[in-house]
Amino acid sequence: MSHHFKDTLISWLNDAHSMEDGLTRILENHANDAKDFPQIQTKLQQHLEVTKRHADMVKQEIKRLGGGTSPVDTVKNTFGNMFGTMQGVVTGGAEDQMIKNALSDYAAEHFEIACYKALIAGAQAYGDTQLVRTCETILRDEEEMAHFLEQHLPMLVNDYSLFKISQEKAA
Ligand SMILES: [Fe+2]
Repeated sequence: MSHHFKDTLISWLNDAHSMEDGLTRILENHANDAKDFPQIQTKLQQHLEVTKRHADMVKQEIKRLGGGTSPVDTVKNTFGNMFGTMQGVVTGGAEDQMIKNALSDYAAEHFEIACYKALIAGAQAYGDTQLVRTCETILRDEEEMAHFLEQHLPMLVNDYSLFKISQEKAA
């Protein structure tokens, strides 16, 4: 019984790993898009490094449990598809790209929060204290980033809106 549940935990960790890996690429793009917003750009660059670390932490947990990570490019799962879709939505170089990126990043952080909360509950049921601790550490980083985005989103939209309105008045 526990043998089978362990495989389930490993597959959830694999989903988390492909999610973190996919987000690495998205965050790279979004950090580039944020060149006119230094405070946001710095935070995105920091979270990019944090995300790479998460991917590695999850990979180590998979190894410790005796599983293997699937080659990320071939992973077809809900997480990969979801983030693929998000990435598709935001590419197109719209002039409100930053807003679209921020919405997508905010949603992604909350999806990650849901994912790690589920993993924590699963790891607790399985009695794997180390996995619980690893996921709690990652969860705190995601909550911190979600909080940053929550605080900065209105300001970003406000700046953008005022800029657009002033352009219209000047025209
Ligand atoms: Fe993450």
